[in-house]
Amino acid sequence: MIGSSAQFTPALFGPSRPSKQSRGCGVAAVSQQAPVASPMRTGTRGTSEQKSNRKPLSLEQQSALNTPLDVLTDDLRFLQAKTGLDLLTPLQEVKEVHDQVVAALNPIAGEKMQEDLEGRITALQSELERAHCEVHCSEEQLESTIEELTRLEMAAHGFTEQQRPQPPDKQRSSGRNRQLQSDLDLPEQLQDFWYPVAFSSQMKDGAMVTMELFGQPWVLFRDAQGLPSCVKDACAHRACPLSLGSVVDGCIQCPYHGWQYDGSGNCTKMPSTAFCRGISVSTLPVSEAEGFVWVWPGRSVPEHNVPQQVTRPPDGFTVHAELILEVPVEHGLLLENLLDLAHAPFTHTSTFAKGWPVPDVVKFNAARMLGGNWEPYPIDMAFEPPCMVLSTIGLAQPGKIERGARAESCKNHLHQLHVCLPAGPGRTRLLYRMSMDFLHWTKAVPGIQAFWAHIAQQVMGEDLVLVAGQQDRMLRGADVWANPVAYDKLGVRYRRWRNSVADGSSAERAQAEAELRPMSAGELFNIPADGCQLGETCDVGDLHP
Ligand code: FES
Ligand SMILES: [Fe+2]
Repeated sequence: MIGSSAQFTPALFGPSRPSKQSRGCGVAAVSQQAPVASPMRTGTRGTSEQKSNRKPLSLEQQSALNTPLDVLTDDLRFLQAKTGLDLLTPLQEVKEVHDQVVAALNPIAGEKMQEDLEGRITALQSELERAHCEVHCSEEQLESTIEELTRLEMAAHGFTEQQRPQPPDKQRSSGRNRQLQSDLDLPEQLQDFWYPVAFSSQMKDGAMVTMELFGQPWVLFRDAQGLPSCVKDACAHRACPLSLGSVVDGCIQCPYHGWQYDGSGNCTKMPSTAFCRGISVSTLPVSEAEGFVWVWPGRSVPEHNVPQQVTRPPDGFTVHAELILEVPVEHGLLLENLLDLAHAPFTHTSTFAKGWPVPDVVKFNAARMLGGNWEPYPIDMAFEPPCMVLSTIGLAQPGKIERGARAESCKNHLHQLHVCLPAGPGRTRLLYRMSMDFLHWTKAVPGIQAFWAHIAQQVMGEDLVLVAGQQDRMLRGADVWANPVAYDKLGVRYRRWRNSVADGSSAERAQAEAELRPMSAGELFNIPADGCQLGETCDVGDLHP
């Protein structure tokens, strides 16, 4: 800037400034035609002391001082050193004014100034972008720290909860049925399982399937290779739900500012800004088998593969309906409801159990005495960890069960799979798949899916009012397993298994898992040989096979 001011120095530093010369301090008078080296530098002027302190400048040094302003600056610096007076600050102000005048009067110098300013602006912009990226990285770190803190807080909270006195109802039952203690919390240990969370048939290319699991929102989509992916449904930029966006070339694109994430959760595009590396959203391990997309929500690495031959309908069955329902009750309560066959002739009087007989214990006893087996309904049922109920029903025709036979001896069957996903506290996402080994052609009937969905809604409506009521009573301290009886076997076994996963020893868990086997309705309604005394309920110990 100073170098470019040579043409205009006369106006400011011309030879008509006698005061400087008259001070006798060796400041040179400068001409506008050419820079002149200071006499002090040349050694032709100045006191003997100055001469002794300052060596004459070489020719190169003199030519480096190529403007009168340089010469003046140099002289003032020298004088400042000698006198201790602040002589350069006023000169700096003069220089700035000078630069502005130069820019105003000289287009070439003005352009140069502008270029310099633009350069500085560009440098500042790059610095800003770098800072922007760092802020993003910090936000990510902050988010994971908050998650960790929340986890620790919940763990601490769970600990203090255990120290609290139990409500009266819980205290009353805990002595006898400690393994049946129920609560509405979702133990973290339940996360270490594979969960079938979506039907493969939903996962068309470009489709997104949202779901909540253990209180976290996730979105499923197929990546560029067509493989299912599961990413957190919250953008790494401003936490907008990614599921509101779209799938573009196998990446999920946020609807807010267009950031894109691949199947591994890595951000691959940030339109309209410099790309920041290392930004990603959380993902879950995913697998696809037997018509389902499975995820592993646990923090641990999956120890085993997706269970095989569990969810697939038996050979010879055709899938007729795949439905999803969001149910506002805790998933354990819903599982226990589905495993409870005895409620059907009382609860489902308007739907599938219309006209079903109430099983008669006298007939059981008679059958036992005669050495036979009496099956009130031709139904086999099983709980499959961590959250599935499988049932096979023998049917004379759709809607009519065959009486007094085991399911396997019936000609026609309906197979049901209920997957009760722990969406969050007090919330279940229910996946229902129904298959039949007869009337295959009905699958092609127009509107049949809507028909099945209507039936499922009706049945669920009948159960929901009861289970939601149980949940309410639990919240007020009631014990839902205060007095289990014989036909509660499957529900009891589920609850034992769940509690053994949450806080049991490995032996308790192994025992609870060994008890999980399919049962027929006959086994379910069978009562212990010594029965129950009046006023007592069957002890849980008697429910073992
Ligand atoms: S919130 Fe997703 S791109 Fe901005
Ligand atoms: Fe029911």
